[in-house]
Amino acid sequence: MDNNVIIDLRNISVKFGEEQVLRNINLYIRDKEFVTLLGPSGCGKTTTLRVIAGFLEPDEGDVVFDGKRVNGVPPHKRPVNTIFQRYALFPHLNVYENVAFGLRLRKLPESHIKAKTAEMLELVNLKGFNRRNVASLSGGQQQRVAIARALAVEPRVLLLDEPLGALDLKLRKDMQVELKSMQQRLGITFIYVTHDQEEALSMSDTIVVMDEGEIQQIGTPQGIYNEPKNAFVADFIGESNILDGTMRRDLFVDFSGKRFKCLDKGFEKNEPVDVVVRPEDVDVVAAGEGMLRGTVTSVTFKGVHYEIIVDIKGFKWMIQSTENQNVGDEIGLDIEPDAIHIMKKSVYSGRFGDYSSFSEEFDELSDPEEEEDI
Ligand SMILES: Nc1ncnc2c1ncn2[C@@H]1O[C@H](COP(=O)(O)OP(=O)(O)OP(=O)(O)O)[C@@H](O)[C@H]1O
Ligand SMILES: [Mg+2]
Repeated sequence: MDNNVIIDLRNISVKFGEEQVLRNINLYIRDKEFVTLLGPSGCGKTTTLRVIAGFLEPDEGDVVFDGKRVNGVPPHKRPVNTIFQRYALFPHLNVYENVAFGLRLRKLPESHIKAKTAEMLELVNLKGFNRRNVASLSGGQQQRVAIARALAVEPRVLLLDEPLGALDLKLRKDMQVELKSMQQRLGITFIYVTHDQEEALSMSDTIVVMDEGEIQQIGTPQGIYNEPKNAFVADFIGESNILDGTMRRDLFVDFSGKRFKCLDKGFEKNEPVDVVVRPEDVDVVAAGEGMLRGTVTSVTFKGVHYEIIVDIKGFKWMIQSTENQNVGDEIGLDIEPDAIHIMKKSVYSGRFGDYSSFSEEFDELSDPEEEEDI
């Protein structure tokens, strides 16, 4: 571990009654790093933030700031500030007073409060909004007030819990860019929570993938995408075909009844493995020419590419291609060695990676933003 580490969670466990909500979390965060906790609803993201902020004491483990254990230290004595999942602005205060709130608590002189508040409102592009009632603002503007309020007290670490969850897609994308550039300009450590994998990939230095109270993988966006550690991560980040395979020996793997060359080694001879192939890494060729042959069962136009579902021996693959195909046609598929990723078997094996049940309706029903309110 390097000495740039600002926060260190060591063997953190949290239980609510009988439910183990966090299980042995080990995670360190470097100064000025943009770290994202990513995982499905209920996996323990907010709970992790609450432990860091000091709103919740873990049942086991140590929370360490700058090398010192801070268990028991109350939230206002930690160098962190939080933008909550349901960011609560004070409805009876105007924009100016909302932003000034933390500064007033600290009993700073009025002149400082005035200058700082003006600076923050300029930073979030809300110059001239001082006297506006917060209830009269749009969702995006309210979000910016929440960001200005949190940044005004100059925290070293900012915890952001789904800060863009309530915004529509376009505004969300704009705010992602703004937040990221603010973080870099101000040199603040961000611990950011989302269940949107695209958001995590585009904003983070480091992504922490969580499921069921456990960390599944920690890595850079590229590392997590290119080398997922298990079927859960492969499925959660991007689209993945995940197949049962057998590692014959170093550099050779069998799946779909064929032998493929790959780049992986270090597995046992004949070890059962999970094989991941990303939809964009499969080449469509003429039937009979590729390593695999299958039947097109559905085609969806996505703008940049077509999303094609292909039935190969009863397993439904997803392929992305810029060329259209016809439903019912036989096609050939080619896969290069570097497009094949081998993962150890895990408790997640066999649960993901077949597109049999895939349909547009299903995609919309499971939209995370809709789940929020359940
Ligand atoms: N105060 C509490 N009492 C009992 N159970 C709780 C409490 N807070 C959280 N939980 C449970 O702990 C689990 C993790 O909750 P948490 O809020 O950390 O999830 P999350 O990853 O933030 O999910 P989401 O994406 O929906 O916000 C859930 O099963 C939740 O019901
Ligand atoms: Mg949450």
